[in-house]
Amino acid sequence: MRFSVARLLATALIGTAGVQAVFPRPEASEISSAATPSSTASSASSSSSVCNNSPVLCDRHYNDITYMGAHDSAFLRDASTGNSVAGNQFKNATFALDAGLRFLQAQVHNENNTLRLCHTSCSLLDAGPLETWLAAINDWVVGHPSDVITLLLVNSDDADVSKFADAFEKSGIDKFGFTPTSKTAWPSLAQMIANDTRVVSFITNIDSSAASPHLLPEFNYIFETPFTVLELDGFNCTVDRPSNAGPASNAFSKGLMGLVNHFKDQVVTGSIIIPDTTNINLVNSAATNATGNLGLHIQQCNQEWSHRPSFVLVDFWDQGSTVKAADNSNGISDATGRTSVASNSSGSSSADGVSSTRELGTGALIAFFAATLLMI
Ligand SMILES: *[C@@H]1O[C@H](CO)[C@@H](O)[C@H](O)[C@H]1NC(C)=O
Ligand SMILES: *[C@@H]1O[C@H](CO)[C@@H](O)[C@H](O)[C@H]1NC(C)=O
Ligand SMILES: *[C@@H]1O[C@H](CO)[C@@H](O)[C@H](O)[C@H]1NC(C)=O
Ligand SMILES: *[C@@H]1O[C@H](CO)[C@@H](O)[C@H](O)[C@H]1NC(C)=O
Ligand SMILES: *[C@@H]1O[C@H](CO)[C@@H](O)[C@H](O)[C@H]1NC(C)=O
Ligand SMILES: *[C@@H]1O[C@H](CO)[C@@H](O)[C@H](O)[C@H]1NC(C)=O
Repeated sequence: MRFSVARLLATALIGTAGVQAVFPRPEASEISSAATPSSTASSASSSSSVCNNSPVLCDRHYNDITYMGAHDSAFLRDASTGNSVAGNQFKNATFALDAGLRFLQAQVHNENNTLRLCHTSCSLLDAGPLETWLAAINDWVVGHPSDVITLLLVNSDDADVSKFADAFEKSGIDKFGFTPTSKTAWPSLAQMIANDTRVVSFITNIDSSAASPHLLPEFNYIFETPFTVLELDGFNCTVDRPSNAGPASNAFSKGLMGLVNHFKDQVVTGSIIIPDTTNINLVNSAATNATGNLGLHIQQCNQEWSHRPSFVLVDFWDQGSTVKAADNSNGISDATGRTSVASNSSGSSSADGVSSTRELGTGALIAFFAATLLMI
């Protein structure tokens, strides 16, 4: 079993590292979620309508918009997980959508024949059934009829597409599922909103299915830049997956959209790698003047590709200025209907990597170590 191997190896490494299991203190901040939809679903293309928080985006094609996204969006470092450092986010996906993110990624495991959101293994961080999480996302989509969102689910255990279809159906979100008719001619947001097909769902390791045509095999539509970046100057715009995509120009000519992975990890010791919260404000900054800035990475990919990135994934999206970075990429300054989220983290308050290392729990280190080995 692949997890057991990783766990044994990780345990051995942690043994030599002598890391103390001291968990960071809980977060104090409270947020209110009071986002209001800013226009009705029926107005397809009037100049007064607002789509994804901006009138500018209504007539723009789905694949010509940058969607800021939460990497591992279901895996939280908050009270619900005892502030587990296995979490990649401080705030859950509903708050992410309220704040203006429109892209949510998560990892799915087939545990006892049920799809669950688990980080590497359900014994490490289990965020519950996929269906429950999708139902919460569905609630948000119902309440925001002028917004188009995108989901990306990593199918870690190669579950059949019919199992995903079942969870989507039971959660209620399948009724919003969008099925593209062409890889190159995506509709405008206004057209998708008019049809109320406002959820685009990509899943890895599935075959497309006539029974659930809105569940889309990720790499038929998307290419990604590398991940597990360890240095601030390690971010680039090279096509990493799918392996047969060729250079970016080829990928675009095949109709693929670009996904920028922009989360930085750090080596704690040996082969143990964890997300870097020490540099999070720089890494998640919309600025373009410092190596490692989110804004700079997006700008570089835009220049190299002659296309705006469609998707961007960050850890701890509430830190830095992630939504601003997407606005800049989209050329937007008129956003409405967002809820600003009070930022806080114990990790980012550490002045140096040593003290944040001491705050990490052993179990979480195993989680991250295993994740680095096994996460696709
Ligand atoms: C996020 O948390 C709020 C309450 O704190 C809850 O109502 C909502 O359903 C959660 N969203 C998700 C996607 O779990
Ligand atoms: C799955 O089954 C195993 C064996 O019965 C059990 O230990 C585990 O807790 C179950 N997982 C979940 C998420 O219920
Ligand atoms: C909207 O729905 C109609 C009728 O089903 C369909 O012909 C059209 O292609 C849809 N448009 C988009 C943008 O999905
Ligand atoms: C981009 O980063 C990856 C992973 O670090 C590396 O393999 C690749 O060579 C880099 N591309 C360029 C053009 O430097
Ligand atoms: C980069 O610009 C930001 C404001 O956009 C500023 O706060 C920061 O100090 C600048 N950093 C450098 C290294 O110049
Ligand atoms: C974050 O929370 C701590 C207490 O846990 C508090 O001292 C600090 O001021 C907060 N920072 C921000 C930016 O809200």
